[in-house]
Amino acid sequence: MRIALLGGSGRIGSEVLDMLLADDHDVQVLARSESSVRSATGLTVTEGDALDQESVAAVVKGADAVMSALGPRGAKSKGLLAGAAANTVAAMNDAGVRRLIAVSAAGAFIGADPDSGALTKVILPVVFAKPFADVRRMEDVIRASGLEWTLVRPARLVGGPATGQYRTRSDFPPQGGMKITRADVAQFMVDALSQHSWIGASPVLAY
Ligand SMILES: NC(=O)c1ccc[n+]([C@@H]2O[C@H](COP(=O)([O-])OP(=O)(O)OC[C@H]3O[C@@H](n4cnc5c(N)ncnc54)[C@H](OP(=O)(O)O)[C@@H]3O)[C@@H](O)[C@H]2O)c1
Repeated sequence: MRIALLGGSGRIGSEVLDMLLADDHDVQVLARSESSVRSATGLTVTEGDALDQESVAAVVKGADAVMSALGPRGAKSKGLLAGAAANTVAAMNDAGVRRLIAVSAAGAFIGADPDSGALTKVILPVVFAKPFADVRRMEDVIRASGLEWTLVRPARLVGGPATGQYRTRSDFPPQGGMKITRADVAQFMVDALSQHSWIGASPVLAY
């Protein structure tokens, strides 16, 4: 397949990229700097910002599916996820591309989690108020898109290898699940692509 990948220079995104290339997909990465992405056979890099509609449209055109592992970096990233999601949804609808798999965040929905402690429910939303609001707006845009979306909600991200030994639960963390490696998140995204699974769902991944 031909995959358009946003955030391919990031920590989850570069794992996704390696896995897609290993599975012989053609990957078109949108990156702010070409030098931030490794070069490889089967990979094309288009320089551009995810908040620029034309740049997003350029990588989405001709794709069979779109994957996003974008994450805010620095002060200029305010509203990145929601803005990029709006550009992505518009570009996908224009180009007739249906499948979208995007990284979200479990923590942004902790207020509604029936299992999480009262203290966590109060503290986390205050500490991460702005990024969590951006995550929720991104989800709203994608949920309203009519596309075949999967919103992957990792627990706290950590480094380390893909283990395949994690739990999933719709919407909220599996009981006691606190963290997940970026590599396991990437593998889940690539598996959801190849298995056409978790359509219209927001699975939380945690150990
Ligand atoms: N931290 C946690 O514990 C946690 C938990 C759950 C979910 N999450 C979610 O995980 C994601 C972060 O994952 P990560 O650690 O892999 O992130 P990361 O390593 O910081 O990578 C972020 C990626 O986004 C790209 N990017 C940022 N702004 C961009 C823009 N304007 N245009 C194009 N590309 C842009 C970066 O590209 P450049 O190379 O150009 O900077 C990079 O490729 C976030 O969406 C966050 O909400 C985090």
